[in-house]
Amino acid sequence: MSLVNVDELLAKAEAGNYAVGAFNCNNMEIVQAIIEAAEEEQSPVIIQASQGAISYAGLDYIVALVNTAAKNATVPVALHLDHGTDFEQVVQCIGRGFTSVMIDGSKKPLAENIALTNKILDMARPLNISVEAELGKIGGTEDNVTVSEKEAMFTDPMEAKEFVEKTGVKSLAIAIGTAHGQYKGKPELDFERLKTIKELVKIPIVLHGSSGVPDEDIKKAISLGVRKVNIDTNLREAFTNGVRKALEEAPHEIDPRKILKPAKAAMKAMVIEKIRVFGSSHKA
Ligand code: G3H
Ligand code: 13P
Ligand code: ZN
Repeated sequence: MSLVNVDELLAKAEAGNYAVGAFNCNNMEIVQAIIEAAEEEQSPVIIQASQGAISYAGLDYIVALVNTAAKNATVPVALHLDHGTDFEQVVQCIGRGFTSVMIDGSKKPLAENIALTNKILDMARPLNISVEAELGKIGGTEDNVTVSEKEAMFTDPMEAKEFVEKTGVKSLAIAIGTAHGQYKGKPELDFERLKTIKELVKIPIVLHGSSGVPDEDIKKAISLGVRKVNIDTNLREAFTNGVRKALEEAPHEIDPRKILKPAKAAMKAMVIEKIRVFGSSHKA
């Protein structure tokens, strides 16, 4: 199957009241684990690469790996740029075959975020490339911020309405209490804010920083309109724990295949669990 775009997947998710998992990839084992899990669950899947992943693996490798995965898959697969901040890089990714991009103008003032998002949309629309934007600031769990500072970064519902009206963007990442990385305590999600935003914008909502959010909270967020759930940290944990375990059991092992095989298996099992929580099994 050739790569599909994200808007298509999220429109079906909206109609079916489920979410599609967007999993970050950085190497071959991660791509294989994600695609094998999606195949086994007969679920649509989004494989995404951050700017960091692209500088680590190289754009050509990322594109080749995900295209190979999609070509041999029976489920729909999208290749998405995660947290793109640079216009030229977005152009380059689209040129190489990404079917979806995120333009993250969340650190900019509202008017500049709107202008940047519109610049990307003008270029992407005629090419049938989906665009995700971000409003509000989704920080990292390592950021040392107080509760009130955190709330100040949350997405303002009226700004979200204005943002969507002035851009026509089809999916929006919002800040409602999640953060990137490993949580120190239990994340507290502002479900009321999510509900209000969804009522005002009506488009698919994207939840970032979803690793470590309890399954029940993820399900509740989906019931309130989240249609794309981003997972990276859980993949990192599964990969690294798999490698650690393999080396603990066989400290003198030098064959990378024997070290990485359990890491891949652990990632695949985790992705299967997430797909079931997101409700996208058998929706391919
Ligand atoms: O949202 C952040 C993702 O986890 C990607 O992280 O920029 O370190 O690749 P990264
Ligand atoms: P986590 O690493 O917290 O799962 O966040 C992933 C993400 O939001 C990628 O954009
Ligand atoms: Zn993110």
